[in-house]
Amino acid sequence: MTDTADVGALPARGMPAPDVLDEIRALRAADRPTHGGRLFAYVYDPGVAGLDELAQAAYAESAHVNGLDPTAFPSLLAMENALVAAAARLLGGGPGTGAPDVVGSVTSGGTESLLLAVKAARDARPDLTEPRIVAPASAHAAFAKAAHYLRVALDTVPVDPVTLRPDVAAVAAAIRPETVLVVASAPSYAHGVVDPVTGIAAVAQAAGVRCHVDACFGGWALPWLRRLGAPVPPFDFAVPGVTSISVDLHKYAYAPKGVSVLLHRDPALRAPQFFAYGDWPGYTMVNPVIASTRSGGPIAAAYATLRHLGEDGYLRLAAATRDAVAGLAGAVRATGGLRLMAEPDTTVVCFTSDDPGLDLFVLVDELTARGWHTQPQLTYADLPASVHLTVTAAVAPRVAEFGPALAESVAAARAAGPAVLPPELLALAGSLTPEALTPELVAGLADGLGLAGGAGVPDRTAVVNTLLDAAPARLRERLLAEFVGLLQRPAW
Ligand SMILES: Cc1ncc(COP(=O)(O)O)c(C=O)c1O
Repeated sequence: MTDTADVGALPARGMPAPDVLDEIRALRAADRPTHGGRLFAYVYDPGVAGLDELAQAAYAESAHVNGLDPTAFPSLLAMENALVAAAARLLGGGPGTGAPDVVGSVTSGGTESLLLAVKAARDARPDLTEPRIVAPASAHAAFAKAAHYLRVALDTVPVDPVTLRPDVAAVAAAIRPETVLVVASAPSYAHGVVDPVTGIAAVAQAAGVRCHVDACFGGWALPWLRRLGAPVPPFDFAVPGVTSISVDLHKYAYAPKGVSVLLHRDPALRAPQFFAYGDWPGYTMVNPVIASTRSGGPIAAAYATLRHLGEDGYLRLAAATRDAVAGLAGAVRATGGLRLMAEPDTTVVCFTSDDPGLDLFVLVDELTARGWHTQPQLTYADLPASVHLTVTAAVAPRVAEFGPALAESVAAARAAGPAVLPPELLALAGSLTPEALTPELVAGLADGLGLAGGAGVPDRTAVVNTLLDAAPARLRERLLAEFVGLLQRPAW
């Protein structure tokens, strides 16, 4: 390398600002559409004109403010405390409620909130050498990540294949003397069902164990749906025994990415979440959350979003979402060969197929080809493969187009027939062990699946999903990690 060559993001000579933005816009052209109501995962779009501009302006105001020291930047502390108060109030806490002492922290996202809920529970029990947590099998994978990072054992409780919820008695039976936390979802991501929080919190409380309600996904949607008359079961601080709740503002609060709130019923429950260290020559580090330096951008953007939308705005958006969910579910019911996995009581529509002539992974590709981006979910235990739709308010104006597109896609998928994996690949998927995967084997597989050569992810993914579906979970994990490793290479 010479000192005058462009290398990746760093040009030898700085570029004019408009050219830089043009480059980014050109890169963005390959992305899935974040607006327009046809992407049913990853993004949460209220479809409110002007909201992006407001959030971006707020972000820019605070992008260089550092959450590392709340005394140096009181603006950030004020906005964080305001976000926590709003979330706590929405979720049954605050003055005049049964949980008047609720406190919380703003984190970077759901995974960080869950990691911290597990850390707080673990560190509240320093007497235990082998702490454990209990979670329904439908709980978000971030609990497995937390267990892995924090060296806490994870005891999963199966979910009923019909209700998609865990049995409370089975949760109770899974609690051991070493259990530091019991988990419930409100709702689960995969199927959008709310766990029996009252029962789960009761058995946790009876055992003297903390109970975390993961409302990362739906915590900012369920309260509005309830106010609109939906039969939302109890899931928040009104439920005795619930000790902490997480709610992501970058999901149904429609804030830009990077903001979640972790609430605890009282300050003593939160205390072990913090990390403080003074035994070095620099500043005494006190971190309520995992990151130390934290940009004020996401916090200010979330603050602006809540202030602008207000309760009336969120109610309106929840009504639009509810109607969109009903419309999409109706389209699924009206389409032969498809079956809803669960009654869509929240903001998820999830369906499967019992028809061997209809390959769900091919259907997903056919929907993609028509501009509808859904999320395939692989077979798990006794649950069939399914298609997940996270529904947001921006979907409402598109609902009428979805039914015909679904019917057309189903017809095309039937005509195409099930995805065919080369027999040697299928045999490999069934017989390979994660340990036997060599870099050469992975490169060969990636080649066979059309993933190689820096082309990124192909438009048609049915073959890849069929391979993954045939593989046990441990092999799926390894394969996907290796494939992502192939994608994440320096752009020399
Ligand atoms: C129920 C639930 N918990 C946790 C998470 C993790 O959130 P994040 O992706 O913000 O880390 C998600 C994400 O979809 C979720 O649905």
